Amino acid sequence: MENKNSERYLTFALGKGRLANQTLKLFEEIGITCEEMKDKETRKLIFVNEELKLRFFLAKGPDVPTYVEYGAADIGVVGEDTILEEGRNIYEVLDLGFGKCRMCVCGPESAKDLLLHHEQIRVASKYPRIAKNYFYNKKQQTVEIIKLNGSIELAPIVGLSEVIVDIVETGSTLRENGLQVLEEVCPLSARMIVNPVSMKMENERITKLITELKQVINKEN
Ligand code: PRP
Repeated sequence: MENKNSERYLTFALGKGRLANQTLKLFEEIGITCEEMKDKETRKLIFVNEELKLRFFLAKGPDVPTYVEYGAADIGVVGEDTILEEGRNIYEVLDLGFGKCRMCVCGPESAKDLLLHHEQIRVASKYPRIAKNYFYNKKQQTVEIIKLNGSIELAPIVGLSEVIVDIVETGSTLRENGLQVLEEVCPLSARMIVNPVSMKMENERITKLITELKQVINKEN
């Protein structure tokens, strides 16, 4: 009898940009390719590998856990920062080993004392949930959190906030703006996430995929 499950498309939501490119490179190493996705000029939003019954689409990072929670994508690849910030009902199944960076509290050196003495400071961040969890639950420090959408490093420079909670990769944005890492919140990297129902219904295919990816990742690290 024909296996019905093997006929169903597995759908992947990939966070747009560098993460998606690195994901596709990793997938190629286990024989999963998507040629039409490599065309830089294309305005197409969804790409299919008919042979393997796979579909891929690119989404804004913060939307990836949303697609996966609702089952519009079975699998997603996105940064741990986004997973923590979105707080969606999804399974986090694999650390892909790339996109490594850190979530940090940053600011001018003068802000060190404010943190040390648990002053009621202002904290600007694109990640209000992560910032709130860090200050309220981990540090037991009452702060005012201000949500921004980008160029977070501006905030302490122009006097919007005393510190920021943001991603630090090379540290050059901080350095070039006279700021520094004051505290580390957590390390980050790209993760694979799975819809809980898909994990049950497509367990065999998804488990195989995870096992194969793990082998490649372990070899590379
Ligand atoms: C991210 C982050 C920092 C920068 C860190 O910003 O918010 O600004 O990268 O990288 P670095 O330590 O290597 O300098 P992104 O470029 O994503 O843009 P954004 O300011 O719009 O968030």
